[in-house]
Amino acid sequence: MVDTARWTVLAPLLQAATAGRDLLDSTLRGLTPGAVIAEVLREIGEHDVRLDLRFDGHTTSHLRTDAGVVVTLDLADAVRGLYGTDARPWPSLAVTTPNPDLDEHGMAGWFHSRKGLAQSVQELLSALKPVRRDLGELAVEFGSDKWGDLHWYTQHYERHFARLRTEPVKVLEIGIGGYDDPDSGGASLRMWQRYFQRGLIHGLDIARKNVTGPRITTVRGDQSDAGFLDRLGRELGPFDVVIDDGSHLNEHVRTSFHALFPHVRAGGLYVVEDLQTSYWPSWGGHPDATPATSMGLLKSFVDGLNRAEVGDPRGEGTYLERNISGISFHHNIAFVEKGLNAEEGGPAFLRTL
Ligand SMILES: C[S@@+](CC[C@H](N)C(=O)[O-])C[C@H]1O[C@@H](n2cnc3c(N)ncnc32)[C@H](O)[C@@H]1O
Repeated sequence: MVDTARWTVLAPLLQAATAGRDLLDSTLRGLTPGAVIAEVLREIGEHDVRLDLRFDGHTTSHLRTDAGVVVTLDLADAVRGLYGTDARPWPSLAVTTPNPDLDEHGMAGWFHSRKGLAQSVQELLSALKPVRRDLGELAVEFGSDKWGDLHWYTQHYERHFARLRTEPVKVLEIGIGGYDDPDSGGASLRMWQRYFQRGLIHGLDIARKNVTGPRITTVRGDQSDAGFLDRLGRELGPFDVVIDDGSHLNEHVRTSFHALFPHVRAGGLYVVEDLQTSYWPSWGGHPDATPATSMGLLKSFVDGLNRAEVGDPRGEGTYLERNISGISFHHNIAFVEKGLNAEEGGPAFLRTL
């Protein structure tokens, strides 16, 4: 369904980036250095400097190899800068410049020719250790409508996702955006890729999409096809986060939840956006958000949290009752927490007092 060959390099890198230096070095040794470097270069893009990466006594040159400034770093530091949480300055950094002869412009010309070097070096180092920014800012930068343009969701995402931000998460978002245009959409996938610095970000859309990114993959498929979603979950999951921002038709939202929630990891979250359609009949909703609507399904989980108080206090309950440990509602968006809900209920004698 998806070409996951690259993940065999990326996934261990993302895991090891926050480990101690010995473990990171041994992970790098177990991978092909060229493949690791390819991931680093994909992440940082083009720059106007030469980047020399050292690993295991070897140095290789990248980016603009004829540039007037050379930035040298250990490969492990580059990986830690990109995917790690270490705020220290670069322990292995060296910046050198070829020493051009004075030309007819003399000393003044020599100094003038070096003016842009600091900026080029800084741009590269900023790309190698990106500053963490608020999700609202990222939404604006990448053009996601999750902040503004009818929705004010990022404040809620920030609150619920903060604990996962630096983890090597797997995210699946239903709905890439841009509808039938293969070259448009992907704003939120790019935002998640930047927010989750160690995240693998998967997007699903019914339309063909050309969205790419160093840690983004896209899949074409229909969120109303439960069998397809189950196969997707087996192949790419378990997910730490699933976000439903697809068709918003009530029937589709319910089908997707039932098919994908089993593929959410314990401690993970399933998010449903645009719940206003639960109240709109033309989308399969009802003004009272009755049980057959998306909100109807989500509301039933609230009672499910306390099911041990009405049935057998030590009974098993249904799969959803046992595996939903929390739910938060905000305007038009809900966060369902996956976790064991197995506390026993109050004893029978108390119920009849
Ligand atoms: C609101 S846009 C997603 C926006 C994107 N998540 C963002 O925040 O930038 C909804 C997308 O869902 C897709 N979609 C509609 N019906 C779908 C279905 N049945 N299965 C999967 N995707 C669907 C549309 O093609 C469209 O691109």
